[in-house]
Amino acid sequence: MSKFMDWIDARFPATSLWEDHLSKYYAPKNFNFFYFFGSLALLVLVNQIVTGVWLTMSYTPSAEEAFASVEYIMRDVEYGSILRLLHSTGASAFFIVVYLHMFRGLLYGSYQKPRELVWIFGMLIYLALMAEAFMGYLLPWGQMSYWGAQVIISLFGAIPVIGNDLTQWIRGDYLISGITLNRFFALHVVALPIVILGLVVLHVLALHEVGSNNPDGVDIKKYKDENGKPLDGIAFHPYYTVKDIVGVVVFLFIFCSVVFFFPEMGGYFLEKPNFEQANAFKTPEHIAPVWYFTPFYAILRAIPDKLLGVMAMGAAIAVLFVLPWLDRSPVKSMRYKGWLSRIWLLLFCVAFVILGILGVLPPSPGRALLSQVCTFVYFAYFILMPFYTRMEKTKPVPERVTG
Ligand code: HEM
Repeated sequence: MSKFMDWIDARFPATSLWEDHLSKYYAPKNFNFFYFFGSLALLVLVNQIVTGVWLTMSYTPSAEEAFASVEYIMRDVEYGSILRLLHSTGASAFFIVVYLHMFRGLLYGSYQKPRELVWIFGMLIYLALMAEAFMGYLLPWGQMSYWGAQVIISLFGAIPVIGNDLTQWIRGDYLISGITLNRFFALHVVALPIVILGLVVLHVLALHEVGSNNPDGVDIKKYKDENGKPLDGIAFHPYYTVKDIVGVVVFLFIFCSVVFFFPEMGGYFLEKPNFEQANAFKTPEHIAPVWYFTPFYAILRAIPDKLLGVMAMGAAIAVLFVLPWLDRSPVKSMRYKGWLSRIWLLLFCVAFVILGILGVLPPSPGRALLSQVCTFVYFAYFILMPFYTRMEKTKPVPERVTG
């Protein structure tokens, strides 16, 4: 075996990759619950790719056959229904996992120096993931696929001068048609998965260059033993590979319960109008995007002017990119930040959830007002951050991790 590895290592850096990223990658020993979601995101990504490849084998990307081919997968293809529900539930699970993963970043200041690039690659993944989910949703060619895409693509029409040409260019037609379906299929199945995989590699490489943060936000590289191993670090393999398996088992238990018993999740994971084939002559009474887009959809609707609404929605995502430069706190973790940071993070999360709920409900004057208040809180969290993070009194950060 060792001769074989020598032969490989002389031609490919297998052992050094294994050591640098697993057996000699020292991660802080105090990782908690929130640190499960990076590896779970990887697991869900693999699930989406594997089930996606098998779905593609039986799916037909044409306006005439797409809907029927999904029915065929559900009824006639061996294990087809499981494959499809693993994929559709996987999409929602991906966003749940990624939102919790991002929340961990906010909680422990993982975006702060020197992890700015880890965060930016993460944000690029998030953007690519939104595009991936949006395009995937057109593929079953149901009513909500069609009209959801219609609403979102028409938003580009609000852009002055080029808006109309741009929407036509995206659709490839004067209205959403089989041509749109075909290009979305190509992007969903080939282009975006490649982009996401590449970004995930960059994300993890950037993280391993600087090392992981932890719930205390202290730098474990400050104290090392005589061999250069951080005193508060433990080897990722076997310690965290084994710990992550516990997370995987719990996750799969919950995930499979949803796949087998509640795959529609009351219309949130699979929306009811999508059980009816797309019909360009019949607009559904109430069009709402899937739950993971609704906070941003609510921000769009909170602003009466279409162009300003689109800009606010774009800004709501763009502002996350500059987060590392908005936080001026001398400490990373919420454990040692002051009350202002804590209250603002809480307000931000509450506003985000309320916006998410408002985004699925039909509009009303009262809800419009509430969504405006929440949009205000959403942006205030970021815009005021340079001030409250500098003003507040922080607690002393321990020299070593606290366990
Ligand atoms: C496909 C999606 C993603 C995958 C597979 C992924 C994977 C990972 C993995 C494996 C880790 C190391 C383990 C951990 O700390 O939990 C990590 C860390 C991190 N990720 Fe992601 N990630 C994804 C999306 C994102 C997004 C959308 C963001 C934020 C915009 C993000 C921000 C971070 C940060 C800041 C860290 C370092 C955390 C720390 O050291 O405290 N990631 N990611």
